[in-house]
Amino acid sequence: MRIQLLFALTLQAGAFALIGSMTSSAQSASTDQAAYQRADALIKQMTLDEKLQLIVSNDPFIDSPGGGAGYVKGIPRLHIPDLNMSDSSTGSGSKNQLSTTFPATIAIAASWDRQLSFDYAAQIAHELRAQGFGMGLGGGTNLARDPRGGRIFEYLGEDPVLAGEMLAQRSLGTQSAHVIATIKHFAGNNQETNRMGGNSQVDERTLRELYLTPFEIAVEQAHPGSVMCSYNRLNGDYACENEHLLTDILKHDWHFEGMVQSDWGATHSTAKAINAGLDEEEGSEPGPTYFNRIDVLFALSSHQITQDRIDDMVRRKLYAMITSGLMDDPPKAGGKIDFEAATAFAQHAEEQSIVLLKNEHAQLPLAASRLRSIAVIGGHADIAVGTGGGSGDTLDPVSGFLTDCGGLQFGLHAGCDWWRTPWLKLAVPIVKAIQELAPDAAVKFGGNGDLDDPYRAYSKQEIDDAAVLAAKSDVAIVVVNQPAGEDFGEQASLGLANPSNQDALVEAVAGANPHTIVILENGNPVLMPWKDRVSAIVEAWFPGEGGGRAIARVLFGKVNPSGKLPLTFPARNEDIPTWGKDGSIAKDPVYAEKLDIGYRWYDAKQIKPMFEFGYGLSYTHFAYSNLVVSNAADHSMTVSFELKNDGPVTGAEIPQVYLGIRDQNEPPKRLVGWSKILLQPGESRKVSISISPRMQSIWSVDENGWKFIPGSHVYVGASSRDIRLQKD
Ligand code: BGC
Repeated sequence: MRIQLLFALTLQAGAFALIGSMTSSAQSASTDQAAYQRADALIKQMTLDEKLQLIVSNDPFIDSPGGGAGYVKGIPRLHIPDLNMSDSSTGSGSKNQLSTTFPATIAIAASWDRQLSFDYAAQIAHELRAQGFGMGLGGGTNLARDPRGGRIFEYLGEDPVLAGEMLAQRSLGTQSAHVIATIKHFAGNNQETNRMGGNSQVDERTLRELYLTPFEIAVEQAHPGSVMCSYNRLNGDYACENEHLLTDILKHDWHFEGMVQSDWGATHSTAKAINAGLDEEEGSEPGPTYFNRIDVLFALSSHQITQDRIDDMVRRKLYAMITSGLMDDPPKAGGKIDFEAATAFAQHAEEQSIVLLKNEHAQLPLAASRLRSIAVIGGHADIAVGTGGGSGDTLDPVSGFLTDCGGLQFGLHAGCDWWRTPWLKLAVPIVKAIQELAPDAAVKFGGNGDLDDPYRAYSKQEIDDAAVLAAKSDVAIVVVNQPAGEDFGEQASLGLANPSNQDALVEAVAGANPHTIVILENGNPVLMPWKDRVSAIVEAWFPGEGGGRAIARVLFGKVNPSGKLPLTFPARNEDIPTWGKDGSIAKDPVYAEKLDIGYRWYDAKQIKPMFEFGYGLSYTHFAYSNLVVSNAADHSMTVSFELKNDGPVTGAEIPQVYLGIRDQNEPPKRLVGWSKILLQPGESRKVSISISPRMQSIWSVDENGWKFIPGSHVYVGASSRDIRLQKD
């Protein structure tokens, strides 16, 4: 099935501009041809057995010789190198060499900074190469449909265009370091409940307009070498044997030339999966379950699959290896990593990603010279920060975990299982970083210092002691943490869960000191019953190895916060689109809210969230004026306006453009563009944002293609609800 050409200009020579302003491409058409020819020439020289060797990653997960997640054996006689792959969401998943833990991917989404996403990926990819990996599995981008989603910290938020553009830059950054970029988990893998096969039921329009769009943008702009199909079923078929998904859409409609690899253990058949478009089976132990020699040879001899398709599978792998540069320049393990520089970058990335959620009476920035005593309470802020668990985490971080699990996270003893381990020890934790910036103040830590059970609930005595410490301090900073991780499932509620009584701790401290600041370390939105009783709230996400200094520098105004929320923070559990009658999470979810994901839902239902999508404060203020919207004959649109920093300090603003599409099934607003602009006090700049026709289109099921809808309402705002300019 192929997309019909509803408007000619958007589909030319196999590529169409989803986003007017972004046109970068990893390779030219002629390089593609050369890579194909080279791959074909290699295939002609291969035996069938050699081909079959290249369609499996058949090493057991734990024992992969490269120390990563998987390994494809090369063919030395044809100079085809081994391909070692590693998880790399937030840093490398090497088990053999130390790695830097950078801020979680959701934090990078909160920076809305395309260049940062590129640089973040390039930094991680340099570490991957130094450890011998040629493929980075870090491009996760499943939209935050249910804000309780267990892996949201590994992804890029709730908006398909924000996620897609950040993913495209991430893929380009990875490939700039000659590492194959994998984007995942394709598709409809939006929850951990029933994670190995739940049937996501999503109508075609919703799929195209929301859940597939991030992948589509990345494929078009960045040509990632690999797409990982997911564990779940999508409308009946497993994602890794779903012909509509892998062949009709990915390979035909989007002209994807790279390979499709399964998630680990997500392959469920031989002939069906191969014919549907899966190119490589991953992660079965002790060898491939379905793409093994005997089953594939049987499928061939019984004409269930063709030799051409086997060649296509091999060609796609070789193509990814050639275009990424791996074929000629394979990485070698044991390389040197400059951890000091990497930690400095991790700090920079976190500084760009922190979101200031509340700042009453200009509580922040703190003036060090006026503070004699500072209380820092909770979150093991004297030693560590939170980080997400599972394959989205580094396995052997340079500064270590709070609980020593011997470098592996798979043991089941306290604090060391798949999701709970991740408290990252910091060389410069928050308490020390604050002391560095306020050398004359007494900085005291209070809270739970129990390192044997870092998730233990605060005792009544600890809460009382924290309140006493807060009462005698000039300012009280409380650090709260919401753990999350792969395979842990979803939290039942958005309330702070673990330790279970963190809300009581915040309430007690806020009751004792009117200058209470809360720092959040989390990957998901959380509820804040104490929001009106604290004076400032700082969203730090899972902040990575440079997190201590980054947080302190925001608190003291060395950095003016500029992040904006990449997902809605609801006021109540009951308000979320997937809550239903009782908040239970369906095993086979029906995406009944259709296009109303995230802010689209809150806008459509007129529900006020606690903090809306796109929201974030600054220490300065920005004024918007002079909106001009011009529509070209080719249906592209340019939105221009004046942005002025009319506040007291230098700062960056992220003006956002939303469209109200004139179609009865569309939610009130969709994000179509943004920019991140640094301005000195008093400085102003004309901002122009190009909007492609595709961004003004809906998916027409009847016509099986994109349909341009003229006359959209244009909104320009500092968030999805703080609209400063608009035009009908
Ligand atoms: C995860 C993938 C990951 C793979 C290899 C799976 O459990 O879902 O995201 O890349 O493991 O570690």
